[in-house]
Order: sequence, then structure tokens, then C-alpha cells
Amino acid sequence: MADKPILLTGAAGALGRWLRPRLIEKYGRLRVSDKIDPAPLHKGEEGVVADISNFEQVSRAVAGAGAIIHFGAYSIEAKWETILPANIIGTYNIYEAARLHGVKRVIFASSNHAIGFHEVTKKLDSMSLRRPDGYYGVSKAFGEDMGSLYVDKFDMQVACLRIGSALPEPKDPRHLSTWLSYPDLLRLVTACLDAPKLKFAVLYGMSKNTRSWWSNAGVPEVDYRPEDNAEDYAAQILSHGDQRDPKAPSTRFMGGPYCDIDYVKR
Ligand SMILES: NC(=O)c1ccc[n+]([C@@H]2O[C@H](COP(=O)([O-])OP(=O)(O)OC[C@H]3O[C@@H](n4cnc5c(N)ncnc54)[C@H](O)[C@@H]3O)[C@@H](O)[C@H]2O)c1
Repeated sequence: MADKPILLTGAAGALGRWLRPRLIEKYGRLRVSDKIDPAPLHKGEEGVVADISNFEQVSRAVAGAGAIIHFGAYSIEAKWETILPANIIGTYNIYEAARLHGVKRVIFASSNHAIGFHEVTKKLDSMSLRRPDGYYGVSKAFGEDMGSLYVDKFDMQVACLRIGSALPEPKDPRHLSTWLSYPDLLRLVTACLDAPKLKFAVLYGMSKNTRSWWSNAGVPEVDYRPEDNAEDYAAQILSHGDQRDPKAPSTRFMGGPYCDIDYVKR
């Protein structure tokens, strides 16, 4: 991997833009790809405009890469017709192009919405059943399964990051459990890129939150050591108490507001 650029998809997005200069600092070279122009480019970056739902374009972006950080996606809940090309076909295209071009390692941005219908009273680990809270969550569960297949059948190495709420700061009571600080996101991604014995791993993308619902203890092969804790913001966030309806799906289940959408089970 050392002499080849790392490919980052979704490089024009919020997390991609923040990660780019930091990844260049550590790894030297980065190929930044998005369906929109990922300009302006930093020193050490090569830009590739590619729609991940188009296999030819993905294949061109992947050729010659040393590893892939797959962050490109339709990144919120949407109707199936919107999710399908970017998140289902697009994720298949990434894994398949990686296989064909001999790129062994893929870091896949999954989401807490793959497990969103678990009750917040539970503690989950990487083996917990997936319970998607929408089509977006289903697409992330699909991306995890596709990764598992490409590891077992094609000897690839895949880390799936069930990212909670990656934000500069936690802003509401739910974030006290789900927050992932940007510096911890970088620690997580680099821990996955550097893990010497990675095969298939599912990790929760969370900071060291006191109120976390999740555990990464079952994934010792990735040496991820978060340093930030949403609890530092708890007094400020809860200064007027927790105003949420305790009976609402968004309060009861881990996926938060996505669980309220079209919810009919009373
Ligand atoms: N930000 C979070 O808290 C969070 C939480 C859970 C999961 N994630 C996942 O992490 C990744 C990055 O999140 P983000 O917040 O930066 O999202 P974002 O929406 O800011 O960025 C996603 C990028 O993907 C690109 N994209 C969309 N469709 C594409 C296509 N068909 N072809 C090529 N590129 C396409 C968009 O142009 C955009 O630049 C996403 O996969 C998202 O689902 C993020």
C-alpha cells in the first residue's frame, strides 16, 4: 500500500473534506474522488470525478489505489430510488472494482442506522443483529454484508465503521451516546488502515462517550483508542433537561429521528 495512493470516495463531503489534509499528512498521497469536483486539491492529492453508480468510472478511480476509504454515499434517509444507485449499486461497484484491481483493503462508512431499531437500553457489540431504521440503514447493512462476502470469498480486508454522529460538537441528548469527534474519526480510519491483521471487522464510529450504547471490545485487531467524550458537553446540552418524548420512537431507539419516519407500530 505504501507506494500507492489511498482512494477516498465522497471526498467533497463533510467528513471527506475534514479528513483529506490529515490523511495526506500521514500517508503522503491521496486520490480524492466524488461525483462533484473535489477541488481545490491539496498538495499530494489527485482528483477523480466519478459517479460510484457507474462501474466504468469507479474502475478508473480504483485502478492503482493501495487501499480504499469508501465514504461516497447518499448520506441521509431517502426514497429507495435515491438510495439504490449511490448506496447499493455504488457500494457493490467499489468492492468489485477493488477485487478486479487487486486492492485488498476497503474501509466502508456504514452507519448507526444499520442498527437503528435497537432499544437504547441495550448495549451492542459488533456481533449484534442489524436492525436498520430505513432504506439508508438497509443500504449500510448491505455494504457490511458485501464486505463480508468479499473477505470470505476473495480474501480482501474490510472494516465497516458504524458511524454514530460525526460532528464538530455534540448538540442534543442523543449525541451524548452517538457522538464521534472529528479527531476520533481520523484515529478510527487510520487504525483500520494500519491494522496488520485485519480481515473483516465491524466497529462503532464513536468517541469515548460515557453514555455510549456500543462496544468495540470484540474487535482487538483494530487498535482504535478514542480520546474525546460527549459527556464534556452534557451540562450544556441538558441545561433545560431532556425535552424529548420518552415514548417516541426517536427516543426509544438508537437511530433517533429516522425511527419516527413513517412509523406505524404503536
Ligand atoms: N456524518 C455522519 O455523522 C455520518 C454518520 C453515519 C454514516 N456516515 C457516512 O459517512 C460517509 C460520509 O458522510 P458525510 O457526512 O461526509 O456525508 P456527505 O453527504 O457530506 O458526503 C457524501 C459525499 O458522497 C458524494 N456522493 C453522493 N452520491 C454519489 C455518487 N453517486 N457518486 C459519487 N459520489 C457520491 C456526495 O457528493 C458527497 O460529497 C457517508 O457514507 C455517510 O453515509 C456519516
